[in-house]
Amino acid sequence: MEAFTCVQDFEQSAMKILPISARDYYRSGAGDEVTLEWNKNAFRKYRIRPRVLRNVSSIDISTKVLGERISMPLGVAPTAMQRMAHPDGECATAKAVQQSGTVFIQSTISTSSIEEVAAAAPSATKWFQLYVYTDRDVTMNLIRRVERAGFRALVLTVDTPFFGTRRADVRNRFVLPRHLKLANFEGRLSRKINESSGGSGLNEYVTNLFDDSLEWRDLHWLKSVTQLPIVLKGILTAEDAILAVENGASGVVVSNHGARQIDGTAATIEALPEVVEAVDGRIEVYLDGGVRTGTDVFKALALGAKMVFFGRPMLWGLAHAGEEGATAVLEIMRKEIREALALAGCRSLAEVTRDMIAHESVYSRL
Ligand code: FNR
Ligand code: LAC
Repeated sequence: MEAFTCVQDFEQSAMKILPISARDYYRSGAGDEVTLEWNKNAFRKYRIRPRVLRNVSSIDISTKVLGERISMPLGVAPTAMQRMAHPDGECATAKAVQQSGTVFIQSTISTSSIEEVAAAAPSATKWFQLYVYTDRDVTMNLIRRVERAGFRALVLTVDTPFFGTRRADVRNRFVLPRHLKLANFEGRLSRKINESSGGSGLNEYVTNLFDDSLEWRDLHWLKSVTQLPIVLKGILTAEDAILAVENGASGVVVSNHGARQIDGTAATIEALPEVVEAVDGRIEVYLDGGVRTGTDVFKALALGAKMVFFGRPMLWGLAHAGEEGATAVLEIMRKEIREALALAGCRSLAEVTRDMIAHESVYSRL
């Protein structure tokens, strides 16, 4: 692992190690995977405008999100079923995050339970990603357990009335391997995902059990049953960003679900500016999708994100070497973020302002 110098090194290793079905599930986007490419490539359309001679002998990349101090502006997005990558799954990822001092978002459909994750990483900043099941008692049970376990926020994913078509999962008839289960549940809710009736077993699970009738007023229901701040994950437009503010969200994640829902949406870095402008500082704005380097993080912050998250890179680190691999991915990113700030002449995140980057179109006009 010593020779690994960037996130792609972990990707290459993971692609060799992972069983085909897990590899395809983790890797895939929806449809033609057009947005999957865009998420990464759109970062390249922004150019950094570095400032010089600004005494960068001391760099501080810490920040505060939802009132809590974290060591860097990059956290771990919720990704499901991490025990397919490594036997320690979500517990290893959460431990890596605890050591790195950032945010871990646990998926509703994880292969380690809320309680197991809390025990593995008691002092990590943990948020819980919520999928709302048709049976509201199921959701209430999750919320109470998350509150008891010391999680700091609920991240309501709003782009998934059901899951987009990831073609490889259909071809592979993707199911969660039998030795694993969805650890937050008992019985059918934990095991139905081990079966397929001909297509993606995950999509069948979700179509059967998730509530596809969710609408804005359900946010008021959610707010009425918990004191935890609610972050909406999956906002891509100014219109919805304004509704998020008006309906009482504490933050939004500009996200297209890692390009796994509707193919053809803008890359998240392209959607970020309209959301930032619409929110106008009233709540926190985060971003995920295609973040792979410190300069990607820098660009998202310059466009107004408070912090960013990434999903797949943590699965690659986990597949490569469990907790150690997950920690290595986070620490490589920390180093790259510090380097980006210093070489651009910024000493703190407050100095990463809009004028630090320019869109490529500015240069083509010259
Ligand atoms: C996800 N994502 C996701 N989102 C969510 O709200 N709940 C979930 O359970 C999952 N599960 C999941 C599994 C896998 C394998 C992937 C790749 C993604 C979406 C995730 O939180 C995030 O939006 C994207 O992963 C961000 O894109 P990158 O960083 O993977 O490019
Ligand atoms: C996915 C889910 C679990 O994208 O959100 O596969």
